[in-house]
Amino acid sequence: MRVFVTGARGFVGSNVVRVLAERHGAEVAGPSRAQVDTTDADAVARAVDAFEPDAIVHCAILNDPVALDRDRRAAWDGYVVATRNVVDAANATGAHVVLISTDWVFDGTQGGATEDEPPNPINAYGFLKAASELVVLERAARATVARIAGVAGVHWARPALPREQDAGFGYLCASLVQTLRAGRRFTVWESPDINCIATPTLASDAAELVWRAIEGGHEGVLHCVGGESVDRVSLGRRTARAFDLDPEMVDAGPPDPAVVGSMRVPYDTSLDAAATAMRLGVELPTLDAMLGRLRKELDTGELAPRGTLGDGRGVAA
Ligand SMILES: NC(=O)c1ccc[n+]([C@@H]2O[C@H](COP(=O)([O-])OP(=O)(O)OC[C@H]3O[C@@H](n4cnc5c(N)ncnc54)[C@H](OP(=O)(O)O)[C@@H]3O)[C@@H](O)[C@H]2O)c1
Repeated sequence: MRVFVTGARGFVGSNVVRVLAERHGAEVAGPSRAQVDTTDADAVARAVDAFEPDAIVHCAILNDPVALDRDRRAAWDGYVVATRNVVDAANATGAHVVLISTDWVFDGTQGGATEDEPPNPINAYGFLKAASELVVLERAARATVARIAGVAGVHWARPALPREQDAGFGYLCASLVQTLRAGRRFTVWESPDINCIATPTLASDAAELVWRAIEGGHEGVLHCVGGESVDRVSLGRRTARAFDLDPEMVDAGPPDPAVVGSMRVPYDTSLDAAATAMRLGVELPTLDAMLGRLRKELDTGELAPRGTLGDGRGVAA
């Protein structure tokens, strides 16, 4: 299997590359942004045509929340135009497109959203991701939208954490572990104005589910997430326990306004992934199982064993 990955040097992309190449022996092309800019239609078409992939996993985004509101043209290009370029290149070569998407296409009142729940984004990022989903679903000859959420894990291309905490769940577990291990207390933010309930996902598990979607030719919308939804503070305390750290060192408190800013953020973005698990023939991991494997990855620098995701048989599409 030959797979072309955009955003391969990002957090999620680096997990996709490692899982597909190392665990499944896929031949992977993961050009950097400097090598192939996804907003450049010709560059994308040339690179995809040269590699002749069976599938493209499109992870790249303009990951700059401030720029999304400040420069709407750049934002549109970095999400929607880039996705159209990837889809057109895939269609020209017969490749299956998998768009990595997000639980933030929902408005925060749609907790437990199933794969067929209509999106209702409330901020620029959610809007641009929902628009990108439509481009893929309506334009690609073979199309999958893989929504992921609350991603925890190792950034294999750039191990240093970019930030301690933000309005979403990203990097929360890893920074909490780093702080507690340094002997300091960690305050998990809690507020009606941030994302407080979600369905945490180990990045390498999301990549494993994406692999199953490609391998089995599963199209449409999938929720490639963990098997349990949780609130931020419980996640913080359960993370501490999973790492044999003291949950009493985890406090709850208001977010830092300088970090959170004024963007509207969906409160409860928990996802129901039962239909995805059934289609892909897997049992999604419990939160504690997922945290145990996160610990293995952070402590060993190796991919954790697949756990319950290893037993599925990849049910045909
Ligand atoms: N992380 C999460 O918690 C989370 C949750 C839900 C969904 N997602 C989805 O997961 C995907 C990946 O997110 P991430 O967290 O891995 O972000 P990330 O670490 O910021 O990675 C994004 C990657 O895209 C690349 N990129 C940006 N603009 C590009 C362009 N014009 N051409 C080519 N490459 C470009 C970046 O390259 P440079 O570094 O060189 O700019 C970077 O490698 C996104 O689709 C996001 O919506 C993430």
